[in-house]
Amino acid sequence: MKVAEISSLGKHINEHVQIRGWLRRKRSSGKIQFLFLRDGSGFVQAIVEKSSVPESVFQVAASLKMESSLIVTGLVKAEERAPGGVEVLVEDVEILQIPEKDFPINKPDHSIDFLMDNRHLWLRTQRQTHVLKIRHEIIRAVREFYNDRGFVLVDTPIFTGSIGESAGNTFEIDYFDYGKAYLAQTGQLYLEAAAMALGKVYNLGPTFRAEKSKTRRHLIEFWMNEAEVAYYGHDDNIKLQEDLVTYVVKKTLERAGEYLRSVGRDTSRLEKIETPFPRITYDEAIKLLVKKGFDIKWGDDIGGDEETAIANEFEKPVVVERYPRMMKAFYMQPDPERPEVVLCDDMLAPEGYGEIIGASERIHDRDLLVERIQEYGLDVESYDWYLDLRDYGTVPHSGFGMGIERIVAWIAGLEHIREAIPFARTLYRIHP
Ligand code: 4AD
Ligand code: MG
Repeated sequence: MKVAEISSLGKHINEHVQIRGWLRRKRSSGKIQFLFLRDGSGFVQAIVEKSSVPESVFQVAASLKMESSLIVTGLVKAEERAPGGVEVLVEDVEILQIPEKDFPINKPDHSIDFLMDNRHLWLRTQRQTHVLKIRHEIIRAVREFYNDRGFVLVDTPIFTGSIGESAGNTFEIDYFDYGKAYLAQTGQLYLEAAAMALGKVYNLGPTFRAEKSKTRRHLIEFWMNEAEVAYYGHDDNIKLQEDLVTYVVKKTLERAGEYLRSVGRDTSRLEKIETPFPRITYDEAIKLLVKKGFDIKWGDDIGGDEETAIANEFEKPVVVERYPRMMKAFYMQPDPERPEVVLCDDMLAPEGYGEIIGASERIHDRDLLVERIQEYGLDVESYDWYLDLRDYGTVPHSGFGMGIERIVAWIAGLEHIREAIPFARTLYRIHP
């Protein structure tokens, strides 16, 4: 008997196949039982007709409970009205396990705390599998984008002795005889070293921030894709970000359009994403916010609500550039014409999804970099290797980091970032 994945059943019309999976739901109308099966690749309706199977098979089907593991043998039929265009007429059912307990996730209105407590089981629902597949396609497109353009993948370390962003939200650990070490907030500093060796590099991995903010955009552990390019200036950097985001949106629409629609995403908004993106300066952003009634002045941070207000002015992601240097990280290159601002940009997603990219040109002058490290209260000694990059053939260079869960939340249209990662780590949750 041929084993077939549910996603491939369209190629097996009028054939007898075996499906190895689980029972998601069951509905019965006396002489017919409808089994809604899943196997990871997809979902399909299987029909058990009392009149066409042995009584024992009908009884077995009747005894099934939600999330029973089973192997179903049946005939694949084309059925226009069914999702995926097929259904299965059951001939036999082999049971691996019928759970003794009722599956906890069994109604449409569980509280979010209950769902998160049961995240390991919640993952089995159709919506969650579709979100995970959207994330998968997004990450695939990210890797593809760089690989097709001659970038080299450089995996940056998780443990580090040199703080990459700011001292405010690091996870500190005791690292043997070395003393204090930190979980990476970013791989950027290491990517800068790699860019001096390889020219164009990228990474993709987990990063950690002890953020006290409990918002729908913040995770404690999140995945970041970063890119770093030698000889790139501020404008080259923005162009690369626009190309990346456009590529990822386009490929995800192409490959995961069905999943996007199934989780309720209005894809017409995404179809409009094309380069170039609108660009405004921090100065202009402040003026815009004041005009909209926000109590904000030059030098203030642009928070979540402000980001949403700015992004709502545009159809596409908006690039906000040249922030005051005091608000940004120590390594950012000053604007030569206005040293009080830096050559950085934040890309804000439309529809209130916030900052998806943080970027800048890097300081390549050793003396200025030392001055900034001290000014930001960081330990210069721990940056000896980073300063070496400025001693041996230093060049202008730029790069950025894109938050994977932010991009997933935006593209999939999720209300909260916790759904964008398989097992979210938030302020109050590390279990399961
Ligand atoms: O803007 P950030 O802090 O930039 C950096 O870490 C740079 N070192 C990157 C670089 O230039 N190589 O973070 C980059 C992105 C943000 O734009 C946001 O999308 C995401 O990472 N991000 C978070 N996502 C989820 N939860 C959090 N707590 C996040 N903090 C940042
Ligand atoms: Mg940022």
